[in-house]
Amino acid sequence: MVLSYQQIAELEQKMGTSFFLLDVEKVRSNYKKIDDAFRSRYNRFIIGYSYKTNYLPFMCKEMDKLGAYAEVVSRLEYDLAIKIGVKSNRIIFNGPLKTEDDIHTALEQGSILNIDSLYEIDFIQNYCRKNKNKQVKVGLRVNFTISDNGVSTLQEGYGVSRFGICVANGNFEYALNKLKEYKNIKVIGLHGHFSTSERKVETYSRITKGLCKLAKEYLTETIEYIDIGGGIYGEIPSSFNINTPSFDDYAESVCSIMNTEFEEGERQPYLILEPGISMVANTFSFYAKVIEGKKVQETHFVLIDGSVHNIKPTMHKRNLPMQLIKQNYNKYQTARYNIVGYTCMEKDYLAHDIEGELPEPNDYIVFENVGAYTIVFNPPFIKERPGIIAIDQNEFYIVRRRESLREFFNEHLYVFQ
Ligand SMILES: Cc1ncc(COP(=O)(O)O)c(C=O)c1O
Repeated sequence: MVLSYQQIAELEQKMGTSFFLLDVEKVRSNYKKIDDAFRSRYNRFIIGYSYKTNYLPFMCKEMDKLGAYAEVVSRLEYDLAIKIGVKSNRIIFNGPLKTEDDIHTALEQGSILNIDSLYEIDFIQNYCRKNKNKQVKVGLRVNFTISDNGVSTLQEGYGVSRFGICVANGNFEYALNKLKEYKNIKVIGLHGHFSTSERKVETYSRITKGLCKLAKEYLTETIEYIDIGGGIYGEIPSSFNINTPSFDDYAESVCSIMNTEFEEGERQPYLILEPGISMVANTFSFYAKVIEGKKVQETHFVLIDGSVHNIKPTMHKRNLPMQLIKQNYNKYQTARYNIVGYTCMEKDYLAHDIEGELPEPNDYIVFENVGAYTIVFNPPFIKERPGIIAIDQNEFYIVRRRESLREFFNEHLYVFQ
């Protein structure tokens, strides 16, 4: 969905000359596609939306309405979920850093808690000592190898992942034994998120098999969920020219293992998936006005009211899918050009070496596929963050106003005198 110049000009009055657009119907359609693919093959299926990917409160609320659990990795995200009305037993609390208070709150509120490291066990035991009559349920994030014939599948080629409790060195068994010291603790879940570079289907079958094997060996009586984490591919823009698995491909592989390992019925564990990128990347676009076209020697630069931080916080060099929306269709000149941003960094390129119609001042450029890790990763650098407008059934809703000096330099935080 791309807005017309007329629509943009009207929005400019309220939003200024750059803003994000959230396509709410696209969110619903992504959710349905993922849910259908998995649930049609394995009924006891739960989506835990990965908050960190994009925790715009409006997005989180929409996920809650659609039926997703909230997958959070900090107290900040946990408290946000509560604030927008997510029921505490529909929050999955992951992440490597949790305070004793975080853990006690999650246990008190009946949230799903996956511990990542051994230090968390002491906090759980302290809680159990104080609450002897309460049955406490916890999950463990586990760490095992998922390499492909000895070759690392992890992002950046890491040899081992730093997350979770290691099975190979005995820490997993140690954790189970330590938790068993308390009669009122039950280990009911296993979690295995791995951030891989290729997001292959085979990786997900390896993760699922690994988790099922551990569950059957150690937790036959108690297992309630198998959580395979996130990291799957969503719909990828055709301009990226890569062939990626579909939701059905992932679901077929994962669910067939679950169905083989666990008999259907009340005791069949839930399968949890924690999608982030695949759920939201293609639901956002970024609109920015062209300020100037400049030529330096033979190179054209198009300056816009935006920055690489708004669309590619990792500053990768690949051009995102984009469109030019012209104010005046009569002017026409083609050239090779770069789109650059408002910061003072040399490397603030929003797009490199584009061949085509040269944008003119007052035109708009729309960058698509910017919903994942942008809103949450946009540093407060040089200029206020742009606002966000949602479109749902042709109606516009402002879901984040444009920042002003006042919010940027929050008067409760900064000292001015
Ligand atoms: C525990 C956990 N779950 C889910 C996700 C979401 O991953 P993605 O956005 O690649 O789907 C992440 C991302 O790092 C994660 O660490």
